[in-house]
Amino acid sequence: MNKKRGSFSSRLGFVLAAAGSAVGLGNLWRFPYLAAKYGGGTFLVIYLILAVTFGYTLMTAEITLGRKTRLSAVGAYGKLDKRFNFIGLLTCLVPIIIVPYYGVVGGWILKYFGVFILEGAETAAADDYFTNFITNPWQPFVLMLVFLTITAVIVSFGVKQGVENASRFMMPVLVVLSVVIAVYSCTRSGAWEGVKYYITPHLSDVSVNTLLGALGQLFYSMSLAMGIMITYGSYMMDDNDIENSVKQIEIFDTGIAFLAGLMIIPAVFAFSGGDSGALNAGAGLMFVTMPKVFASMSFGSLIGAVFFLLVIFAALTSNISLFETVVSILCDEFHISRKLSCVITYIICVVLGLLSALGYGVLSGIAPLGMSFLDFFDFISNSVLMPIVAVLTCIFLGWVVDTNIITDEVKKNSTFGREGMFRIMLKWIAPIFLVAILVSSVLNALGIISI
Ligand code: PFF
Repeated sequence: MNKKRGSFSSRLGFVLAAAGSAVGLGNLWRFPYLAAKYGGGTFLVIYLILAVTFGYTLMTAEITLGRKTRLSAVGAYGKLDKRFNFIGLLTCLVPIIIVPYYGVVGGWILKYFGVFILEGAETAAADDYFTNFITNPWQPFVLMLVFLTITAVIVSFGVKQGVENASRFMMPVLVVLSVVIAVYSCTRSGAWEGVKYYITPHLSDVSVNTLLGALGQLFYSMSLAMGIMITYGSYMMDDNDIENSVKQIEIFDTGIAFLAGLMIIPAVFAFSGGDSGALNAGAGLMFVTMPKVFASMSFGSLIGAVFFLLVIFAALTSNISLFETVVSILCDEFHISRKLSCVITYIICVVLGLLSALGYGVLSGIAPLGMSFLDFFDFISNSVLMPIVAVLTCIFLGWVVDTNIITDEVKKNSTFGREGMFRIMLKWIAPIFLVAILVSSVLNALGIISI
């Protein structure tokens, strides 16, 4: 192993960091509204089945590719076959596009945490509060800078001292806070109807869209096709058990997503008098609907502040993983120090983030593909680049190189109980699913179909 390359101190350190990456805004905000939209319990069952098959396969493939090559995304593909270096180059674009706008949303969360603490739920729940904030000429940019600075400082301390220690502290706190809020939310009057709606399968709502929705969400939630799992895998020690680590990351990721549903769906149900449509508010769910829900609860300011604190932790550990991925690429490819890589990454983020931060205010006149800058970057990364990277990864590991390179690496220090399923998924089923995600999400974004 490259001596200068950082590594996690133990399997637990690796699992917490990777789970920290996976558990993010996707779990806390996107999962609950998709579950409500696509038939509650039915979506849960489909999601779970896909998590242990499709999600498991892609995550195992990426982590193992990283550990085998001991390189970040750019170099990893090329090390196995030089002709396929371009997949690594494509992969590294994804975190570079995502970190800046994730930082902008991180800034929004800091703002709401501050408002709940300093001014209370009533202020945050006021009509137009969110719109006034995101259209402000400077506030979203300054708060983005704060969020990105915290991220950069943590990453600059290195894999063990920075990334791992931050996750070791934030992830257990996040779990405890999630349970507290979920219990509080489910015990409000009128909330039980929402719990039933959430966990009961609604077969009439099942459609191809449910499957596509679950596939897309899984992909997003498990931080796949962004180079993150390759990078984290490259820091994993040789004697750590890959199969069990992936299982634990999945349990973490799916468990927190499930709890997020329990935090949000029953509370919104009780607040809106059983109207599930209130959940379908996109970004407004977290920043417009939830503040109103908190304002209607007793101890609403406190509960709201705790909620946004847990969202900060979730978003920060995810942003750290995206930032670390870019830093690691710069260190590997240009042989520069971690500190210098952090500075360069930070500057890229500030410049690109400026567009997303001010895209609803002073820059709202510019609309690439008819979208705000933030939506545009989200579309290019999540709907276009990520499915392409993942299809290429499956083809590369399933067809171009000998798949035994991956399976042997997994088996180096553990059993590989799901090996048969892994091979079939990687070669045949995952590529089909991924093409379906790509086609449907592009058509959806262009308004040709609606999912
Ligand atoms: N998996 C994380 C989440 O669910 O929020 C991180 C993440 C996913 C970041 C997708 C960015 C992204 F586009």
